[in-house]
Amino acid sequence: MEIKFYGHACILIKTKNITVVTDPWLSKTGAFLSTWFQFPDNTDLDLTEIRNADYIVLSHEHLDHYDPEFLKTINPKAKILIPKYTDSYLYDALKENVSNEVIVCKSLQKIKLNDEITFCPVVQSVPIWDDCTLVFETPEGTIVDVNDMKITDKDMQWITQHFTIDYLFQQFSGANWHPLVYPYSDEEKAKMAKHKIYTKFRNVKQKFALSGAKYLVPMAGPPCFLDDEFFEINFSDQSIFPDQSVFYQYAKDEGFADKTVVLLPGDRFDPRLDCKQISEKNLRNEVFTNKRGYLEKYRARRQEVLKKNRESMVDPKTSLLEKAKEHFNPLIASSEYFREKIAGSVLLDISGECPEKILVDFRKANDSVKLYEGEDHFYTFKISSAILDMVLEKKLTWEQLLLSLRFRAERNPDIFNEFLVVFLRFADPASYKQYELFEKRKDVSDTFILHHCDKSFEVQKYCPHAMGDLSKGEIVDNCIVCPNHGWTFSLENGECTNNKASITVKEIPPN
Ligand code: FES
Repeated sequence: MEIKFYGHACILIKTKNITVVTDPWLSKTGAFLSTWFQFPDNTDLDLTEIRNADYIVLSHEHLDHYDPEFLKTINPKAKILIPKYTDSYLYDALKENVSNEVIVCKSLQKIKLNDEITFCPVVQSVPIWDDCTLVFETPEGTIVDVNDMKITDKDMQWITQHFTIDYLFQQFSGANWHPLVYPYSDEEKAKMAKHKIYTKFRNVKQKFALSGAKYLVPMAGPPCFLDDEFFEINFSDQSIFPDQSVFYQYAKDEGFADKTVVLLPGDRFDPRLDCKQISEKNLRNEVFTNKRGYLEKYRARRQEVLKKNRESMVDPKTSLLEKAKEHFNPLIASSEYFREKIAGSVLLDISGECPEKILVDFRKANDSVKLYEGEDHFYTFKISSAILDMVLEKKLTWEQLLLSLRFRAERNPDIFNEFLVVFLRFADPASYKQYELFEKRKDVSDTFILHHCDKSFEVQKYCPHAMGDLSKGEIVDNCIVCPNHGWTFSLENGECTNNKASITVKEIPPN
């Protein structure tokens, strides 16, 4: 059997009789309006084996996992497997773009692909994102590809109860627009980025320990940025996209580098070889030792792609007000829950041929969209009319826009509104309902006892964000920091320091 890594989140698993490929992101146009490109470049590899695979398994609809241009080039007989999500976005998109058979697979159910390989999708149990861990039982062990999924401890426990994991492939480098698009000082951005990177690394380390896997392959990031507007992000201390060399150093410092395998696109993963030698040889590659030089050559190869991308963004010559009404009004009307949770207005500050300011008031069930006349608002999107038009025309999703970094934003007050992001991300009434049901039924009654500074506290065990296990959180400045994504809760009153969430915390009086 062969396990071959093709870069980012693409793994090829090949036995005598079957070839299975995950998340092939291989187009030279990159993703997210050509802001993201594959790092390192994997597009000039021999892709014959991928194109001739029997099964292509896609974890979710992000364009660095679902690459429609590449999928148009695969063998039409290859079957495409996707997880069952509440909405049919990925299924519909595939049906529009490829003629291959698409099979929708239910979460937690094993599918026998042939006598050698079974596949089991594990859809994220917290419905904030559509995402899925891909589990493959093979003749030479079980491969668990977590990719970008915000896997909870409970999700991982389910997997370990049903499989003995040999190889864990997991994202280690984040994908977020905060803090890059916000008007913080350079020092503030660098401090926030450092915190996010540390939290992510710590989370990967914890999940690896919980999985009991023999090997960890850090994957599914980072992208690189080749457009001049974003090029310096590749080298900036304000970036939340660390590369494999930074993670490997962390693994060394934390004592798990001997089980961490840094792979480059085209590498075969053979566990009989010395992992340390593989990683250290790869980390001596120019990709890491002369990153700027490597990326300057890569950027030169993509000039034509970048030029075409710029030319494709054409500002409409008329107001977007009516399109914004058509887009937002039915979505806002569909969910009283989101209206109450978002509870404020968002300003669209639009530049381009027809600059204008549009207000979206989430408190109003009807006629929520109007031209701005100085009203209070808690969030501002500064965005070009060309890009907003793509979103309103459904050529680009809100999440694709956010990941493209091709906007600027301001928050007042400067706190994260999870509900606004979920609302935009899904833009789908059925998904809103599912999220509402999950939130209302969510059982956060478990508690644990925390001893800190000669005091004892009874503390809510699971984080209100995505069920991170707070009993594994660090205590910093009298706050408990969630190990999953770093939300920070005061031990004095349980309130989150950077958004409106809270947990229950009770100080236990001394006997
Ligand atoms: S689960 Fe995301 S911050 Fe706690």
